[in-house]
Amino acid sequence: MCALRFIFIIVVLLTVGAVSSHNITAILSEFPEYSEFNNYLSQTKLADEINSRETITVLVLNNGVVSSLAGKHPLSVIKGVLSLHILLDYYDNKKLHAISDGTTLSTTLYQTTGNAPGKVGFVNITDLKGGKVGFGSAVSGSKLDSSYTKSVKQIPYNISVLEINAPIIAPGILTAPAPSADVNITGLLEKAGCKTFVKLITDTGVLKVFQSASAKGLTVFAPSDEAFKAAGIPDLSKLTNAELVALLQYHALASYTPKGSLKTTKDPLSTLATNGAGKFDLTVETAGDSVTLDSGVGTSRLASTVLDSTPLCIFTVDSLLLPTELFGKSPSPAPSLSPDTSPASSPAPVALSPEPAAAPSPFLSPPAPPTSSPTAGPAPSDGPTADSENSNATNGVEAVKVPSLVLSLAATWMSVMMTYVLC
Ligand SMILES: *[C@@H]1O[C@H](CO)[C@@H](O)[C@H](O)[C@H]1NC(C)=O
Ligand SMILES: *[C@@H]1O[C@H](CO)[C@@H](O)[C@H](O)[C@H]1NC(C)=O
Ligand SMILES: *[C@@H]1O[C@H](CO)[C@@H](O)[C@H](O)[C@H]1NC(C)=O
Ligand SMILES: *[C@@H]1O[C@H](CO)[C@@H](O)[C@H](O)[C@H]1NC(C)=O
Ligand SMILES: *[C@@H]1O[C@H](CO)[C@@H](O)[C@H](O)[C@H]1NC(C)=O
Repeated sequence: MCALRFIFIIVVLLTVGAVSSHNITAILSEFPEYSEFNNYLSQTKLADEINSRETITVLVLNNGVVSSLAGKHPLSVIKGVLSLHILLDYYDNKKLHAISDGTTLSTTLYQTTGNAPGKVGFVNITDLKGGKVGFGSAVSGSKLDSSYTKSVKQIPYNISVLEINAPIIAPGILTAPAPSADVNITGLLEKAGCKTFVKLITDTGVLKVFQSASAKGLTVFAPSDEAFKAAGIPDLSKLTNAELVALLQYHALASYTPKGSLKTTKDPLSTLATNGAGKFDLTVETAGDSVTLDSGVGTSRLASTVLDSTPLCIFTVDSLLLPTELFGKSPSPAPSLSPDTSPASSPAPVALSPEPAAAPSPFLSPPAPPTSSPTAGPAPSDGPTADSENSNATNGVEAVKVPSLVLSLAATWMSVMMTYVLC
C-alpha cells in the first residue's frame, strides 16, 4: 500500500515536472471527430512542432474533410497543407471577432519550412458580415473558402484549437513534388557546404547505408566543411575503417526526426552507429529555437535544415559529433573538446575555428579573427554572430537545467516526506 502510494506520488510529481505547456495529441484525443487530423499530426511529426511552441492556433478539420483531402495526396503534401493550418499566433473566438479593420494575415508553420515563396506561408483571416469569419490563403486573388465553425479548446494565450469547415489551400501546395525515393543526398549535401562529409560517406560506403535507410526514415546531421577543419579535431586518418564508419554513422538517425521533434526529445537518441543499449547515442539540448546535440565529448549546434521532407531530414551541424565510445576514453585525442573541463567556452571555439592553421589554441581562436586577421573573408562577420548565439544558447540551456534540477530535487524530497506522512 505504502509502496504504491509512494510510486503514485513520484509519478504525479514527475508528470507535473515534465509537462510542457501543452500536448496537442492529448487535446485532440478527446474529440473523435478529429482523430484523422490528429493521426496526421503525429505521422508528420507536426505534433512535436506544435508542442514545442507557445502562442499557437491549430485550425482543425473533421474526419470527413481530412479523408477527402488525404486520399489523393502523398504524406509530404498533407504535411504542407496541415502546416498551413497551424498559426503562429493565438486566436480564440473573441480575438477572431475583434480583428482590427476586420482582416489580417497570420504567419503559419508552413512559412518556417523555407519553401514558402511570397505570401504562401500566410493565412488571411477576415471577419465577414453576419459574424462569419473566413480563412484563405494570403496569396492575392485567393478566395476565403474556409469558414470558422466553432471553438474546440483553449489554454489561454498558449494554444487554441478552432474548427474550420474546409481546408486552406495555397496555390501550388497540392502539386508540390513528392520527395522521390531517389533524393540525391550527396548533391544536396555538396550544395549545403558539406563536401568533406560527402567524400567520407562515399569512400566508406556509408552513403549506401543512408540510402537504404532513407526509404523508412532517416535524419542526417552533416558537419560543414569548416567543422572538419576546426582546431582540436582528431586526426581521422588514424582511425581504422570500422571506427570511421561508426563515426560517420553516428551522424545519422534511423528515423524521420525534424527539428520540432528534436526539440521535444528528452531521451537520448540512438544513431545508426548504435550497437547496444546506450551506445553511440546523442542527447539533445534546446534553448529557444536553437538545438544542440551533445555526444558526451562535445556539442554541435544544428546550423541549417537542408531537407525536411518525410521520411528524410537533412541538417548541417557546425561541429563534428565525436562519440565517447571512440573519443571519450583515450588519453587526449581532443582534450579541448571536453565539455566537463570548460563548459562555457568549449562548444564555441570548436564551431568557430574555420582555419586551424591560424589558431593553434582553440581557446584563442574566437577573438583572433576580428582583431588580427584582416584577410580572413567570412570569418570576422560570422564569428561574433555565431559566438553570441552559442553563448546565449549555453545560457539558455543552463537556465533551463537549473530549474529542472531544483524541481526534481524538490520532487524527490517531497515524495520522501509524503511517504512519512502517509505511511
Ligand atoms: C502557458 O505557457 C507558459 C509557458 O510554458 C506557462 O508558464 C503557463 O503556465 C501556460 N499557461 C497555462 C494557462 O497553461
Ligand atoms: C501526448 O499525449 C499522447 C496521448 O495522450 C501521449 O501518447 C504522448 O506521449 C504525449 N506526449 C508528450 C510529449 O507528453
Ligand atoms: C484578405 O482577403 C480579402 C478578400 O480577398 C481581402 O479583401 C483582404 O484585403 C485580405 N486581407 C489582407 C490583410 O490582405
Ligand atoms: C547527385 O548530385 C551530384 C552533384 O550535384 C552529381 O555529381 C551526381 O551525379 C548526382 N547523382 C545522381 C544519382 O543523380
Ligand atoms: C544574447 O543575449 C543578449 C543579452 O542577454 C542579447 O542582447 C542578444 O541579442 C542575444 N543574442 C542573440 C543572438 O540572441
